[in-house]
Amino acid sequence: MQENRRISNLCLIGFMGTGKTSVARLASELLQFSFLDTDDWIQAHAGCSVSDIFQHRGEAAFREMEREAVRHLEGLTKTVIATGGGLSAQGDNLENLKKHSLVVCLWASPEKIWDRVKSQSHRPLLNDSDPKARIRQLLAQREPFYKRADILMNTELRTIREVAQQVVLQFRLAASEQK
Ligand code: S3P
Repeated sequence: MQENRRISNLCLIGFMGTGKTSVARLASELLQFSFLDTDDWIQAHAGCSVSDIFQHRGEAAFREMEREAVRHLEGLTKTVIATGGGLSAQGDNLENLKKHSLVVCLWASPEKIWDRVKSQSHRPLLNDSDPKARIRQLLAQREPFYKRADILMNTELRTIREVAQQVVLQFRLAASEQK
């Protein structure tokens, strides 16, 4: 484990539709930790939805807000954090998360992701004439970042509860190793 690390939080990264928010919420209950979703944090600070931020201020403004959220996270302890799908694939956000969190990437194939998100309308990056191709393209771009997580967990054949139990187990192991 890197020297300047103190594992006080559990952080979930990964593509849209991999279950980060649901898993993080359940894991926070199991650990009796607080729960924070970076999209919710950004929406509360901006006073509008992620879709509105993309539409009226542009993606670059949203990515800057994500960096601000990452700075805010540095002050937290005993929190399970769910991040937006693109957050960990920008600049040094992932390295900054690792300073205080065990970072777990939830994984699923583009087909499975499409299956999970196709009936939802709140994801501006998928407002595309070919959303399936967009998922494949974004996933390929982000894969090198996602693979730098401490743990990569395939979610395809596991329920939310099973994934949450697994990540909690991994967190407890990592936290006990540093005692
Ligand atoms: C995004 C994922 C979304 C949200 C925004 C951008 C992305 O979060 O942050 O729409 O770049 O993949 P979820 O992964 O929670 O859907």
